[in-house]
Amino acid sequence: MFTLETAATAAYVVAALLFILALAGLSKHETSRAGNSFGIAGMAVALVATIALALARHIEPLGLVLLIVAMVIGAAIGLWRAKIVEMTGMPELIALLHSFVGLAAVLVGWNGYLHVEGDAAGAEAAQLANEGMLGIHSAEVVIGVFIGAVTFTGSVVANLKLSARMKSAPMMLPGKNFLNVGALVVFAALTVWFVIDPQLWLLIVVTVLALLLGWHLVASIGGGDMPVVVSMLNSYSGWAAAASGFLLGNDLLIITGALVGSSGAYLSYIMCKAMNRSFISVIAGGFGIEAGPAEDKDYGEHREITAEGAAELLAGATSVIITPGYGMAVAQAQYGVADLTRKLRERGVEVRFGIHPVAGRLPGHMNVLLAEAKVPYDIVLEMDEINDDFDGTSVVLVIGANDTVNPAASEDPGSPIAGMPVLTVWNADNVIVFKRSMASGYAGVQNPLFFRENTQMLFGDAKDRVDAINAALSVGEKV
Ligand code: TAP
Repeated sequence: MFTLETAATAAYVVAALLFILALAGLSKHETSRAGNSFGIAGMAVALVATIALALARHIEPLGLVLLIVAMVIGAAIGLWRAKIVEMTGMPELIALLHSFVGLAAVLVGWNGYLHVEGDAAGAEAAQLANEGMLGIHSAEVVIGVFIGAVTFTGSVVANLKLSARMKSAPMMLPGKNFLNVGALVVFAALTVWFVIDPQLWLLIVVTVLALLLGWHLVASIGGGDMPVVVSMLNSYSGWAAAASGFLLGNDLLIITGALVGSSGAYLSYIMCKAMNRSFISVIAGGFGIEAGPAEDKDYGEHREITAEGAAELLAGATSVIITPGYGMAVAQAQYGVADLTRKLRERGVEVRFGIHPVAGRLPGHMNVLLAEAKVPYDIVLEMDEINDDFDGTSVVLVIGANDTVNPAASEDPGSPIAGMPVLTVWNADNVIVFKRSMASGYAGVQNPLFFRENTQMLFGDAKDRVDAINAALSVGEKV
């Protein structure tokens, strides 16, 4: 028989399919817009189906009002934040959103406990006991609360680090690996205990333990590994949502949680490979990464160049590679860079872009900015595609990039970013580095590139400097 309940269940299946199509679409440049639309449509279907299901199950009027008010407030805040967020602020916003998923999972878990284990004489507890499912329910509660709480505090720390409200250097408590592993062992023991005898104090201890573990795990991870942390927390938030789905008996939440959980884990794995980091080491909170001694090395003198000097060098070049980084995003220099690219190509200079997989602050950050400024896709190359071509290139423009072009990663085994593949810009004839000072990049590591003989620093805001070069080139054109 066709009821509101069966319609809602069917809608859940449609929403799940739309989410799968969204993931498939988002995996390629050309289909990413369609992917986004599928995701929005899936979420709209899921929200309507949730209200329908609540009506079918005769939700109390007050509950329905609360549900709708919460959705309206949430949608309003979401729209407002999405409108005002800067591209550079995206990762910290994503980290904050992950923390909400974690918190929601903790609340769902606690709610499950209060309705069942905490109300042993109640109808729900009696029914589950009859079906022999009480132990499973207790396991779902404790595991959901644990994953949710780790995700919650981990994401809050990630947000603080990404927004520079907390130092990005790893926190180094003595015996930190022992603390992490110890917390997991204690959690396993408490879970067994809770399943056998679900007492309130056990759940309180698990919640506090998980909150501390989440904080410690992410605080122990150094700046350079933050991209992996963000996608890893994305994965955790998915598993937290799936755990809530089991508790609420909601299939769509289980499917969506599993999709987010596994795609986040896979993205973390790809990023670890790109950065030559051990996946286990990063997810275990920087396991095996020890603090190096404070750097106190004399790299010698650096040379400087003016915008006019840079324009002259570019005008005489045959090939140019531009390697953008986070600073281009901060300065919003992409439009000037697109203009410069056009000008140089008109003069017959070959211009290409080299994009490091973790340049900027989120996957694909540079590609999005360059596409926004209408730089043609076919001259924007990945690191692996262009790394052999620096040798023989006349000029490389490093625009607001730092860690991703640091030779210490490949030449200094003691460097905190040792082993991370980088763009080998120093092999070009000339390198011009656009930045405002000699300050280090996100990982907090000094960059020997700035002191190389073929490198010149062009100090100032990247947008101003690029505009000044464009102006100088235009003057040259008129003469
Ligand atoms: P970074 O190493 O972050 O360096 C950016 C440089 O841009 C800084 O040295 C800064 O120097 C300069 N800068 C900032 N504002 C500028 C402005 N207005 N004009 C000119 N220069 C400016 O950049 P990167 O090479 O892109 O490396 C990315 C780093 O972020 C990596 O360590 C990566 O692991 C990490 N990370 C990446 C992600 C993802 S997923 N991509 C996520 C989180 C973290 P001044 O201050 O001297 O100007």
